[in-house]
Amino acid sequence: MTPTWVQLAYLACAVCFILALKGLSGPKTARNGNLLGAVAAVVAVTIPFFYLELDHVALILAAILVGTVGGVVGARKVQMTQMPQMVALFNGVGGGAAALVALLELGEIVGHGEDVGWFVLLATAFTIAVGSVSFAGSIVTFAKLQDLMTSAPVVFKGLPIVFGIGLLATILLTGITIGEPVLWAGVVLALVGLVVGVLLVLPVGGADVPIVISLLNAFTGLTVAAGGYVLDNTLLLVAGTLVGASGTFLTLLMANAMGRSVANILFGALKGGSTLGGGEASDRPVKSAGPNDVAITLGYADRVIIVPGYGLAVAQAQHALRELVDVLGERGIQVDYAIHPVAGRMPGHMNVLLAEAQVPYEQLKEMAEINGDFKDADVVLVVGANDVVNPAAKTTPGAPIYGMPILNVDEAKQVIFMKRSMRPGFAGIENELLFDEKTTLLFGDAKDTMSKLLNAVKAL
Ligand code: TAP
Repeated sequence: MTPTWVQLAYLACAVCFILALKGLSGPKTARNGNLLGAVAAVVAVTIPFFYLELDHVALILAAILVGTVGGVVGARKVQMTQMPQMVALFNGVGGGAAALVALLELGEIVGHGEDVGWFVLLATAFTIAVGSVSFAGSIVTFAKLQDLMTSAPVVFKGLPIVFGIGLLATILLTGITIGEPVLWAGVVLALVGLVVGVLLVLPVGGADVPIVISLLNAFTGLTVAAGGYVLDNTLLLVAGTLVGASGTFLTLLMANAMGRSVANILFGALKGGSTLGGGEASDRPVKSAGPNDVAITLGYADRVIIVPGYGLAVAQAQHALRELVDVLGERGIQVDYAIHPVAGRMPGHMNVLLAEAQVPYEQLKEMAEINGDFKDADVVLVVGANDVVNPAAKTTPGAPIYGMPILNVDEAKQVIFMKRSMRPGFAGIENELLFDEKTTLLFGDAKDTMSKLLNAVKAL
């Protein structure tokens, strides 16, 4: 029986996790939310040392030390643009850990010949299988995003058949575990889970990988919740359910923001409908200008909207951009940032990046809030964004981004694109807006050109 003080402490931690999630839903409260969740997690991990008679304490402490050092060093070193693969890695080890714990628990059940009931056995098999899928899938997503392998969809003949056999084997082995628990069935189940995890992610193109990370995150949450049931630990159950639910919502929100179904993202490449085009640089003529000309266009406008994208993040141009907006503001120009939900490579990417540069939250406008304002904008400055402003999403059925809601930049009076070349964005398709007569291109690395533009506007 779990002591009352432990149950109360777990309840307090569960409440902190919920408040942490609430905090994470807005930029102003995210830092505190994160801190609250982290403190609750540390407390939750510490509690068992005070009420359980643990074997192998030294080993457990050593494992915690390795995890802590790895986590701290990794989190400090990671670049903002590498965050999705960092999340994938954390998520993968979470799923893998849950699967290993469930395997150990199965070993105990078999060793002691305990009769734990079919539901506990089902939860154990589920944790082993889904935890392994999540681990292997997350490692492949990590490899794709870290350029350790091609980020294009990998499809081979017979993949759906092998995948189907993997799923059937999973059901069979789960049945065996429930009927008469044996350790070998658990081990084979874990191995099959690893294969299924790899096959699930291989056909997914690079642009969709962050969505799959979120889906695998939901899997890990469910795995941990089932593991909490097996171990009779309510806090694990609550925490796992929260992760599972938030991961599921995030997956659906991202898929909606990209105008795609989750099934299409996972299995689109099997039908030949791959999402990642690669994309060649166009040689069609465009109108380009230098920083001085663009400074004049911006400096004499009344209303300017900034559209930040992935290129801003890669170039780390957010500080110079914020300065530019400050200077334009001092000239009496109304300036806002239009934030597309999937601008960049992960949810909230642009919000975090701009918050880091001390951009006031009031200037950040979500797509629904600002999309009606583009027609009144004198100038839209698109900094390292492409797909999220590509009108092909509205006009070209069959384009990989067709159906994705976009920012109505094409309705503005003048458009300036800051980018390095005529290469396309992540979806790999040409953007007609680049060739429109109201569009001007300011070529160069966003950080470099932004500083030049800033100086030119200051000199007006
Ligand atoms: P993209 O369409 O990928 O366009 C980025 C642009 O930045 C490119 O045109 C690139 O052109 C430019 N660029 C790159 N490095 C630069 C640098 N150093 N300086 C200046 N420009 C630079 O980005 P987006 O418009 O933000 O769209 C995001 C894409 O990612 C969408 O397709 C979206 O579906 C996908 N995606 C996003 C998420 C989330 S949740 N954010 C998740 C999955 C997928 P050059 O190479 O010519 O410079």
